[in-house]
Amino acid sequence: MTTQLKNNRTQVIPEDDDFICQRRYIACGFVLNIGMYSFIKLGFGSKVWDAALTLLQYFEEQKMSFSEKKVIELGSGTGILGIVTALLGGNVTITDKPELLKQMEWNVLVNIPSTCQSRIKVRALSWGYDHMLFPSDYDYILCTDIMYAYDSVPLILRTLLHLSNEKTIIYFASTMSFGYSVINSGHQILFKYFNSQLVCRNEVNDVRVYIMTKIT
Ligand SMILES: C[S@@+](CC[C@H](N)C(=O)[O-])C[C@H]1O[C@@H](n2cnc3c(N)ncnc32)[C@H](O)[C@@H]1O
Repeated sequence: MTTQLKNNRTQVIPEDDDFICQRRYIACGFVLNIGMYSFIKLGFGSKVWDAALTLLQYFEEQKMSFSEKKVIELGSGTGILGIVTALLGGNVTITDKPELLKQMEWNVLVNIPSTCQSRIKVRALSWGYDHMLFPSDYDYILCTDIMYAYDSVPLILRTLLHLSNEKTIIYFASTMSFGYSVINSGHQILFKYFNSQLVCRNEVNDVRVYIMTKIT
């Protein structure tokens, strides 16, 4: 990592050719510097998506605390949602495909004080393949903008069924304009296995946030 001076402000940037930029976000009272890596290498996970920002806004409105709660996030991308959830007191595991870990680890390092670093873990979890390596006792599962391909729907379903129990609360948020048909049909499949409630609808960004619990 190097330190650069830009506009009279000190910026820490990683010594990495794939690093593209840092953006500042304010969520739930926290100021975050989120680093984003190459889209060519990381694909969709290299930016912060509207569903993550909408869910963070919902957490702020609801004055959510995750103190003492065990949380896992699927398809974390930059990790912004899980990072804020850890800052709100949660014991959080943020996950994505292996190539995303470097970006998430950097964002954790920059945004989580060293005293809280033990409350957040960064792990590889490819849906439908690695999920059995994780337990089934999470209080919360967070998913934002992960439903956009037909072939991933059964993988997401299998992963959620394994990670959840009857007490687990799943926040599942999707930007519908990202692909209405696939997202809507994916939601309908999930709703056969999970009770669902639409708790927030952001008309500007076309984001829907559902709370889901396992049908037992
Ligand atoms: C559209 S991005 C959303 C990122 C983040 N949740 C957000 O809202 O900003 C979708 C994320 O899902 C991840 N992803 C896609 N397919 C995956 C799979 N099979 N297993 C695990 N993660 C996957 C991508 O790497 C990417 O980070």
